[in-house]
Amino acid sequence: MGERGASRHPVGVVDLSTSYLGLKLAHPLVPGASPLSYELDSILRLEDAGAPAIVLHSLFEEQISADPLRTARAPTDPVGYLEHLNRIKESVHVPVIASLNGTTDEGWTSFASLVEQAGADALELNVYHLSTNLWTSGATLEAYTLDTVRTVRSLVSIPVAVKIFPYFSSIASLARQFEEIGVNGLVVFNRSYQPDIDLETLEVKPDLRLSSSTELLSRLYWIAMLSGRVDLSLAVTGGVHTGADALKAILAGADAVQMVSALLQNGPGHLKVVREEMERWLERHGHSSLEEVRGSMSLERREDGRAFTRAGLLQVLQRGIGPLS
Ligand SMILES: Cc1cc2nc3c(=O)[nH]c(=O)nc-3n(C[C@H](O)[C@H](O)[C@H](O)COP(=O)(O)O)c2cc1C
Repeated sequence: MGERGASRHPVGVVDLSTSYLGLKLAHPLVPGASPLSYELDSILRLEDAGAPAIVLHSLFEEQISADPLRTARAPTDPVGYLEHLNRIKESVHVPVIASLNGTTDEGWTSFASLVEQAGADALELNVYHLSTNLWTSGATLEAYTLDTVRTVRSLVSIPVAVKIFPYFSSIASLARQFEEIGVNGLVVFNRSYQPDIDLETLEVKPDLRLSSSTELLSRLYWIAMLSGRVDLSLAVTGGVHTGADALKAILAGADAVQMVSALLQNGPGHLKVVREEMERWLERHGHSSLEEVRGSMSLERREDGRAFTRAGLLQVLQRGIGPLS
């Protein structure tokens, strides 16, 4: 980001506040769903570092349907999750967003009510549905996802956000349909965790790599596409590591910016680093609030919005990287 603009507001005076899922947040940098929330102590450290809200790790459908009455107290077990959520709510002052990860509407959807009763301020649904069925069409999958989300929406009164993969064939239409069934927010995008192949042992092995800023671009694209066109809170997840990353997401139109890899790598204190980078950029560019720039680079607001369309694709590919030397 450039250095132009007069310095008018000292760091700390710039207003970074935002509204996400109807929750008033001091700034948009929210720790996303991950093991960062397994321990109450880590959550308190995130809150101390200024996290304006916390998204809890997901409770997985498989864990609920395996044995819903299991009394194990780990925060990844159903009963343990509810107790953990309860304890967190008693201990922190910021909103807590619970997360459920599933694909069917048996079991995990009804668990949504319990999560609401345990005090969650909002619910993030991670619809992790990668179909390998040769006969299931994209339209069927989309309808199925909408049905599942609709069921949850009817069961709880807290705000509901849906976290999706980028693999739907018509993301814009899906977003509109989420809005129509009363969803409050969209979180783009889930990362996929495909296993790798070990050439020496010839085993398929899990491969969890943390993200880098390069993953941000697909998120920017879709936030910029949707901003101002659907009545949904928009959050980016994936590839936000720096203040510049977070600002780009906001300029594209995001209301909140979730961070996981950067916090796992650098610790909770990184929230402050990113926040101050944002403040400095806004101040250098003569802005007193984040609100002034939110969505300013969205398709809806830009005359040069063609960069987001097929025309932009053509231009990029035809300009290319020059002839081979
Ligand atoms: C170790 C780890 C565990 C995660 N667990 C969850 C989870 O329980 N539920 C979920 O929705 N996303 C989970 N995620 C995905 C993150 O919430 C986030 O969407 C993803 O890491 C991209 O954001 P980042 O680039 O800031 O890391 C996990 C990610 C990591 C690295």
